[in-house]
Amino acid sequence: MSILVTGGAGFIGSNFVLDWLGQNKEAVINLDALTYAGNLQNLASLRNSPLHHFVQGDIGDGALVAALLEKHRPRAVVNFAAESHVDRSIVGPEAFIQTNIVGTFRLLEAVRAFWGGLTGSDRETFRFLHVSTDEVYGSLSESDPAFTELHRYEPNSPYSASKAASDHLVRSYHHTYGLPTLTTNCSNNYGPHHFPEKLIPLVIHNALSGKPLPIYGDGRNVRDWLYVTDHCSAIRAVLAGGRLGETYNVGGWNEMTNLEVVHTLCDILDEEQPKTDGTSYRAQITFVKDRPGHDRRYAIDATKIERELGWRPAETFTTGIRKTVRWYLQNPEWVRQVTSGSYREWTAQQYQS
Ligand code: NAD
Ligand code: TYD
Repeated sequence: MSILVTGGAGFIGSNFVLDWLGQNKEAVINLDALTYAGNLQNLASLRNSPLHHFVQGDIGDGALVAALLEKHRPRAVVNFAAESHVDRSIVGPEAFIQTNIVGTFRLLEAVRAFWGGLTGSDRETFRFLHVSTDEVYGSLSESDPAFTELHRYEPNSPYSASKAASDHLVRSYHHTYGLPTLTTNCSNNYGPHHFPEKLIPLVIHNALSGKPLPIYGDGRNVRDWLYVTDHCSAIRAVLAGGRLGETYNVGGWNEMTNLEVVHTLCDILDEEQPKTDGTSYRAQITFVKDRPGHDRRYAIDATKIERELGWRPAETFTTGIRKTVRWYLQNPEWVRQVTSGSYREWTAQQYQS
C-alpha cells in the first residue's frame, strides 16, 4: 500500500511526509517540482528509506502523474503542491494560475482516469485529499464570527483566488464524476522547514541577521496560527474518516495580531540568543508599506473536524512557537542554504533592501 503526496518537499508537505513515515509502514510517492520553495534537505533523514520514493515533476504533467499512478497504484493522493506566497502572487500571478488551477485540474484528470479503472474495494477506499487554505473565505472584521465551512468564498488575492478555483474544481469532480474527494481549509501554519519569505521564519531570520523586522501597515492584521504537525494530524484524520465530498476547516483557535506574533518572537529570541549589546530584538521592528489588498483578519471555526473526527491541536502557540524558534537556531545550515541565490533577489525586490 502507498499514498501519492504532491508538493512533499515544501514546508507542510515535508512535515507531512516525515510525520507519516514516522508512524506508518505505508510508502509515500512524493511528486514535487522543486520550485524555489521545494527543498530535498527537508527530507534528508529519509535518504535511505525504502518507503520514500521521490520524483521530481509537475502536477500539471498529466502523462507523468498517470504513469506514477499506474506504477505505484496508491490508495490515496494528498495534494499539497501549490504556489503559496501571497506577496509573490501580487508581483506575478501567472505561476499561481498555472500550478494552483491548471495543475490541479490536470492532476484531477489523471486521478479520475486512474480511479475510473479501479474496481471493488480499491475503488471504494480510494481518496483524493486536497489541501487548501482559510484565505479562500476572504477577510473578517474584528467582530465577525470565525469562518465555518458554510462561509461563502470571497478570495481577495491572486493566491487565494487560485486556491478557491482549485477547491471548486475538486468539488465539481466529486459532484459530477463521483470522485471520492476531501478538502481541508487550514489557517496559517508555522514550524520547521517554513521558507523565510513568510512572516514567522522571515522575522527569526532577519532578527538573527541584524536586519529590520518588516511589519506591513499597522501590524494589527490577525491570523489564526497552527503548528504544522497539528495540520498533519488533521489531514491524517480527514483522510481516515472524512465524509466524501466534504470540506473540513482546520485551525488552532489561536488568533493573534502580527505585532503580537513578532513581539513574542523577539522575546523568545531575547531569552534563547540574547544580543551581545544587551538590546532587545524588538528594536529591529520596522513598519513598512502595507500589502495591497491585505486581508484584515482570518479566524477558523474548527468545530466540524473536532465533532466529526475528534481532532484537536496538540500544541498551543506558546509551546509551538518556542519549538519553532529553537528549530531555526539549531538549523543555521538549512537557513543558509535556502536564503542563498534567488531568495536574495526576492527580498531585495520586496523590501527594497
Ligand atoms: P510551500 O510553498 O512551502 O511548498 C509548496 C511545494 O509545492 C514546494 O515543494 C514546491 O516545489 C511544490 N510545487 C510547486 N508547484 C508545483 C507543481 N506545479 N508541481 C509539483 N510540485 C509543485 O507551501 P506550503 O506552505 O507547504 O503549503 C502547502 C499547501 O498547503 C499549499 O497547497 C497551500 O496552499 C496550503 N496551505 C498552506 C498554509 C500555510 O500557512 N503555509 C495554510 C493553509 C494551506
Ligand atoms: P504570511 O506569512 O505571508 O501569510 P499570509 O499572508 O498567507 O497570511 O503573512 C502573515 C501576516 O504577516 C500577513 O498579515 C502579512 C504579514 N507580514 C508582514 O507584516 N511582514 C512581512 O514581511 C510578511 C512576509 C508578512
